[in-house]
Amino acid sequence: MLDPCTFVIFGATGNLATNKLLPALYHLDCAGRLPEELAIVGFARRDWDDQQWRNAVAEALAERVRGGMNAQVLERFCARLHFFSGDLTDESVFSRLRTFLGEGPRFADNVVFYMAIRPAEFGVVSERLAHAGLNRADGAWRRLVIEKPFGYDLESAATLDQRLHRDFDEEQIFRIDHYLGKGTVQNILVFRFANLMLEPLWNRNYIDHVQITHAETRGLDGRAGYYDGAGALRDMIQSHLLQLLTLVAMEPPASLDAEALRDEKVKVLRSIRPIPQSAVHAHAFRAQYARGKVNGERMLGYLEEADIPSTSTTETFAALKLYIDNWRWRNVPFYLRTGKRMARSQSMVSIRFKHPPQQLFRETHIEQLDPNWILMSIQPNECLRMELQVKQNGLEMRTETTRLDATSCGISDAQLDAYEALLLDVIEGDHSLFLRYDEVKWAWTVVDPILKVWSTERDFIHVYPAGSWGPTEANRLFMRDDQYWRNTLDDDRH
Ligand code: BG6
Repeated sequence: MLDPCTFVIFGATGNLATNKLLPALYHLDCAGRLPEELAIVGFARRDWDDQQWRNAVAEALAERVRGGMNAQVLERFCARLHFFSGDLTDESVFSRLRTFLGEGPRFADNVVFYMAIRPAEFGVVSERLAHAGLNRADGAWRRLVIEKPFGYDLESAATLDQRLHRDFDEEQIFRIDHYLGKGTVQNILVFRFANLMLEPLWNRNYIDHVQITHAETRGLDGRAGYYDGAGALRDMIQSHLLQLLTLVAMEPPASLDAEALRDEKVKVLRSIRPIPQSAVHAHAFRAQYARGKVNGERMLGYLEEADIPSTSTTETFAALKLYIDNWRWRNVPFYLRTGKRMARSQSMVSIRFKHPPQQLFRETHIEQLDPNWILMSIQPNECLRMELQVKQNGLEMRTETTRLDATSCGISDAQLDAYEALLLDVIEGDHSLFLRYDEVKWAWTVVDPILKVWSTERDFIHVYPAGSWGPTEANRLFMRDDQYWRNTLDDDRH
């Protein structure tokens, strides 16, 4: 049984709340997973009353819910919604919030405070919550959910963390990385640790390299201000892609409890070979999209987008080569890559195995055997695929690649959104899929030297046409000529 609770969303009319949080809560309600006594308080600047917010939410949900709106659920869901009009920069607003939450039995004493606001406001809002006495309650819990980016670099992340810890204990803080709520991401652990046959192969003796790609056709989605200050390395690699790397590379944890899991993830991050500033160019590559066509539609270049300074050298594409210095992975490159306005939206982990040691088929028509791959696609379709070589039909000794799909590779309407699982975990108080501060700190440690070098090089940045797979210059990261970017589930080289 879930505790009754009040879910306060700061930034209730913003992008994140509208596109992700409220639809996720609606879907949980639909699945009967929300406690009956759960109320949602939307905190935002607009001068709205409950009904206005309910109407706006109903309208937004109509475009976003899976499988059509259910009128009965919508009615129940809207009854949970309450609007609180306030300006975060006004200190007195928090004591008003306290009075509001204390009014009558309507709002349960257990409260989730969800920061769907600008990162610069995380610290000040947490302090003001504490000044108003909202950070603790006798006999009830208070939880704080922080979205990424957690800090701007190593130093600011440490400052933010100290600031939060003045008023909140670690067990109250949920640092969300929505990637960890995605189905395939969780499946990586099951795939690795529930299948004994993989374990002997999962190391430097058999794996040639690992690629982790998040490509998206999307551009800035109205977030120019945030994105131009962040760039692809901070926006995707420091958080989501390094998290994926830890799941692919970690040792089996002692158990699936939050601390055991996170201990193993931290060990991976700590083992990543530091990149000295002098080696940044050999390990990292950045670029920016120029005009082009995505799916046949003309797109502006990054510098032409609204609110982007025409001299910006912020990267919209970043690629990295990392090594993990431990027994399992020494000298196996991990290539991480992300880009906006790419040819296709595709996120996946691609694991390439080595060539068989003996050229047994030398005297036949087989010139070079293609190596085995394991592909774990996260989106748009969830899929686990293995590529193996088999003999072609016919008299000659020739091979072809065949695929074993361990899951259906369809794009399913029933696919859960990552936020659904994660919001339920917050209400349940389960930290397993949330970041501990040391994970954040070690992830910043990995990218910090690159950020430092890039911040001083403001004169030049490579470009790629919107709708492409990024500049070919990014290939310079590869350790050998036979390595190449795996862009999609089908090997597009052939
Ligand atoms: C967010 C980034 O964290 O993740 C966005 O800030 C990015 O720039 C998004 O587009 C990608 O996640 P998803 O789940 O929408 O593919």
